[in-house]
Amino acid sequence: MNDSHIQIAPSILAADFKNLGQQVRDATDAGADMIHVDVMDGHFVPNVSFGEPIINAVRDSTDLPLNIHLMIENPDNFIPFFVKSPTDQIIVHAEACSHLHRSVSYVKELGAEIGVAINPGTPVSILEEVLPMLDIVLVMTVNPGFGGQIFIESMLKKVKLLRNIIDEHNYDAELEVDGGIKSDNTAFDSVISGASILVAGTAIFTPNIPVKDAIASLRAVVGGASYTP
Ligand code: DX5
Ligand code: ZN
Repeated sequence: MNDSHIQIAPSILAADFKNLGQQVRDATDAGADMIHVDVMDGHFVPNVSFGEPIINAVRDSTDLPLNIHLMIENPDNFIPFFVKSPTDQIIVHAEACSHLHRSVSYVKELGAEIGVAINPGTPVSILEEVLPMLDIVLVMTVNPGFGGQIFIESMLKKVKLLRNIIDEHNYDAELEVDGGIKSDNTAFDSVISGASILVAGTAIFTPNIPVKDAIASLRAVVGGASYTP
């Protein structure tokens, strides 16, 4: 794997919502690979963010795939409202699904890509039975709920473990990291540990720094990085 496979997913949680459409267009023009949208319900995580109307506004502002991170309980009840395009990527949390296999199958039946996220306190083993079915595995590198938190370094060994399992079995899943990723060792170390999608919120949507410069900085940091087994 080399840097050409590393995908950048700006998280609009940190965007200027007064100018959301423009911020999404800026990220798109700057070469983002997808737009990450964080849906929070105030139950699964101690914060409320946004739902379908905001996601539709994002859709209207870009042709990029939407990487829809559902931090909500009982996601199956809401999944049909979020799937609108075959390029949609629906990410459910393993901890929020009583019947994870059913949730994964449901998203696939609806014709979207499926990802499963795990919190810092959740072991990789929870994914064992569904991993062959997944398009994306998301390793939370902070406890979910807020932008701007500090990257939890010990999650790198979880990323490495998952990379080994995915490669050993030739699974299709991309390996995504989310939380505390900046243009520094957090991005670099994630990539050399095997991550292939980097989510970044506050590192990309920063007042007074153009989105294109922020994305270029992130690409520069991971430019020389590649996974080393
Ligand atoms: C946190 C969210 C993240 C958040 C990342 O619960 O899932 O996607 O937007 O923000 P930063 O990059 O600022 O840590
Ligand atoms: Zn997220």
